[in-house]
Amino acid sequence: MSAQDPLVIFTPSGKRGRFPTGTPVLTAARQLGVDLDSVCGGRGICSKCQVAPAFGEFSKHGVTVAKDALSEWNAVEARYDEKRGLKPGRRLGCQATIQSDIVIDVPPESQVHRQVVRKAATERVIEMDPATRLLLVDVAEPDMHDPSGDLQRLKAALHAAWQVELGDLPLPLLAKLQPVLRKGGWQVTCAIFQPADGPVQLLDIWPGYFEGPLYGLAIDLGSTTMAAHLCDLATGTVLASSGLMNPQIRFGEDLMSRVSYAMMNPGGDAEMTTAVREALNQLAGEIAQEAEIDPRLIVETVFVCNPVMHHLLLGIDPVELGQAPFALATSDSLSLFASELGMDAIHPQARSYILPCIAGHVGADAAAVALSEAPGEQDDLTLVIDVGTNAEILLGNRSRVLACSSPTGPAFEGAQISSGQRAAPGAIERIEIDPETKAPRFRVIGCDLWSDDPGFDAATAVTGITGICGSGIIEAVAEMRMTGLLDASGLIGSAEQTGTSRCEADGRTHSYLVHDGSADGGPRITVTQGDIRAIQLAKSALYAGARLLMDEMGVDTVDRVVLAGAFGAHISPKHAMVLGMIPDAPLNKVTSAGNAAGTGARIALLNRASRKEIETVVRQITKVETAIEPRFQEHFVAANALPHASDPFPNLSALVPLPDLSFNTGGGDGSDGGRRRRRRRG
Ligand code: FES
Repeated sequence: MSAQDPLVIFTPSGKRGRFPTGTPVLTAARQLGVDLDSVCGGRGICSKCQVAPAFGEFSKHGVTVAKDALSEWNAVEARYDEKRGLKPGRRLGCQATIQSDIVIDVPPESQVHRQVVRKAATERVIEMDPATRLLLVDVAEPDMHDPSGDLQRLKAALHAAWQVELGDLPLPLLAKLQPVLRKGGWQVTCAIFQPADGPVQLLDIWPGYFEGPLYGLAIDLGSTTMAAHLCDLATGTVLASSGLMNPQIRFGEDLMSRVSYAMMNPGGDAEMTTAVREALNQLAGEIAQEAEIDPRLIVETVFVCNPVMHHLLLGIDPVELGQAPFALATSDSLSLFASELGMDAIHPQARSYILPCIAGHVGADAAAVALSEAPGEQDDLTLVIDVGTNAEILLGNRSRVLACSSPTGPAFEGAQISSGQRAAPGAIERIEIDPETKAPRFRVIGCDLWSDDPGFDAATAVTGITGICGSGIIEAVAEMRMTGLLDASGLIGSAEQTGTSRCEADGRTHSYLVHDGSADGGPRITVTQGDIRAIQLAKSALYAGARLLMDEMGVDTVDRVVLAGAFGAHISPKHAMVLGMIPDAPLNKVTSAGNAAGTGARIALLNRASRKEIETVVRQITKVETAIEPRFQEHFVAANALPHASDPFPNLSALVPLPDLSFNTGGGDGSDGGRRRRRRRG
């Protein structure tokens, strides 16, 4: 190229260079390292190389672009436009050639490494760099005088056109190769799996040009629920998200009861492996149906899960995880065939990637949260809590990241709660209690009105009011504490102590009536003393885990708290702090990250470099085992009070004065004492 050659400027990258007249735009883009997609290698078949030339005066770039700066619309473009339609102003980069100075925009859908904005508060982006790509190649025909196998010529063609070094073929693909090559007239599309390291593999082959798309599943395999996102591997778009209850619940609600089931019952581990694999196949089938795609086009899966689920998914007896020193079979990431995990509802050659585990009790789900929330890249000391049956807790900043896992149990997910239920239409998800009348108003999932708004009854007639979900129970307990229905030790007061008949005697304890639908055949929804105890146990485990990491870090406060987890997004920070689920922090520094483990799985699915990244990050994380740490028990006991027996909550006190009362009549605080002793703090 010379100084007289036309100047080509690509946007948005800003990359520029001079190229001889007649150079195809795709060639110029490749030489400059501009991210412009191509599946057909410039044959005018795939249309992935679409660009948008810009004409006129560009003072910013110092160029004037003439109307004829690109070659005339050619027959290939005309044919494509006629058959499939090109957006106005678009050209095919492999067909249009450079005639004079030109500014060319590469639209996001033509970029291989396009960025996908996460639908979360933090708006982080995922850069597309999937391990699986479609490539079109022309394979040389066999020649009597130069004998070679069809596979050898396919390998040579992939190397010449795409610099891909293909490894060996699995037998089913080898068996398919010859008819496909001949049917395609020696032109075939290959689905190539190219990890950041390791051999390149052929996943499938189609005669001629196969447009795809190919899909991947990002799966968050939790103890109680399993959730999957179906993603387009070329665009990163989430086509459908779906969830199922983990069928292993019938073997035990929490992880340790599943480990003991495996210990007590010969073959119990295999039974649980079969159950989870069957459910995964069902989930894959359902999500494909929902998105109306062929499940055989799902060619990749990524799993994040806790260590026990990890072992049970892999068909490894989790017995070692039930006892110190909690040795994992392997803590490294795993890359294998999905069929090895019994996933036969998807493509037979589909690949599976399982994120690395951090330690015996801190799994690949915590690694996924680390990938998604990146506490190690923050200046602020950030506490990330992924709330679930087992809570994954990370604390860190640029200097250091610590991680632990804490057995919260399923109470936060509405289990073990008398009126608890899954977050589904009809479940109470928000609740407010009037400080004077002690009457509640609430909202249910599926209706935007509050229960005291006109039209609420009609709006909820179909779903009914069926129970309380996880976020609802957290708000209910916190509101009860704020309005003096519950004392700091977690005791519900009597009708006399609280001044409301909604506090009903329930055996030797009391319950608070939230909603009575019995007249219409609906449930009576109450918060019982047992519910309060279940929430206290769960929140104490959560707080004790966080506190243990803070001890290890040598701090008493954190700068930021991120609540993650399937329902983390729905937890009100204020109510979480009233309960003492999380350490005291300025409320505007407590944010929700949605399903961070699921997002981490999606990042790993769509960006192969992120797999390397998390494998490195995990090795640098300091693991803290809550199960063997004596201080965990101390912290757990102190955290039983609402919000806490000894740790100060200055930010909370300044915002929400909590009544100072005790309903423990055995301790000398009589029935009227609670109300008299109430005073404002903070
Ligand atoms: S590269 Fe395939 S149409 Fe241009």
